[in-house]
Amino acid sequence: MNIQGHYVLITGGASGLGAETAHFLAQKGARIILFDRDLSTANQVAEALGGKAYEVDVANSASVEQAFNEMTKEAIYPRVCINCAGIAPAKRMVGKEGPMALSDFEHVIQVNLVGTFNVMRIAAATMMQLFPLIETSERGVIINTASIAAYEGQIGQTAYSASKGGVVGMTLPAARELARFGIRVMTIAPGVISTPMMQAMPQKVQDTLVEQAIFPPRLGKPEEYAMLAHHIIENPLLNGEVIRLDGAMRMM
Ligand SMILES: NC(=O)c1ccc[n+]([C@@H]2O[C@H](COP(=O)([O-])OP(=O)(O)OC[C@H]3O[C@@H](n4cnc5c(N)ncnc54)[C@H](O)[C@@H]3O)[C@@H](O)[C@H]2O)c1
Repeated sequence: MNIQGHYVLITGGASGLGAETAHFLAQKGARIILFDRDLSTANQVAEALGGKAYEVDVANSASVEQAFNEMTKEAIYPRVCINCAGIAPAKRMVGKEGPMALSDFEHVIQVNLVGTFNVMRIAAATMMQLFPLIETSERGVIINTASIAAYEGQIGQTAYSASKGGVVGMTLPAARELARFGIRVMTIAPGVISTPMMQAMPQKVQDTLVEQAIFPPRLGKPEEYAMLAHHIIENPLLNGEVIRLDGAMRMM
């Protein structure tokens, strides 16, 4: 689909991959809508792009439903939904203080996996109300964000890897289910991209990850994620698949 003039909803749009994708797609003519729990930063990003931000906790059904209700009341029906909201706390399953609190595990699953599903289900229902585009017969495109940790999680990533493995697993069944409505579902599994999430990790961890980069031998750039998201939107044959965006990195 040609993004020009269509509404694009980006969760986690206040920072990192979501914010960069908002800038990139706005330059291509998209109308930007951001969902984030950090409303003041999301507002700054949205206002600079002539878009709109909503305070949303993706892990909460009422919060997401309310934001979609407000949006559609204003006749905003996104053709594209990009799920970037996520968290990445690292914690051993059994640490010095004993086993990880179950609530820590549940929180990561609730935000990264349940949160992605929560937004995807209502985004899909909203897209179903749109007419199919003449040129491609599409009603919409959903792009979720997993991680290469879904495949090669490191020590301390049991919860994060489980949450991202769930996002990978949802891709094909969601694409199959939504195909008859002309809605595609794709997932991007980034390697290590230089964003505030990554920069919050200890320098030693970042250095070790860069050492594992094959080519290019550096951290990924957020615009490389945005470029792929844009290509997925434009290429109608991409559906039901997970694309690694990692410069051949395999985390050890
Ligand atoms: N940066 C990387 O190296 C990398 C690698 C693989 C996957 N990812 C994934 O990409 C996505 C974006 O990561 P990023 O690096 O841009 O991180 P980031 O921390 O820069 O941005 C994440 C955004 O999500 C928002 N958010 C978090 N929890 C939320 C919630 N419950 N409801 C609404 N908003 C919420 C935050 O406020 C923030 O604006 C995440 O899902 C992350 O797991 C990142």
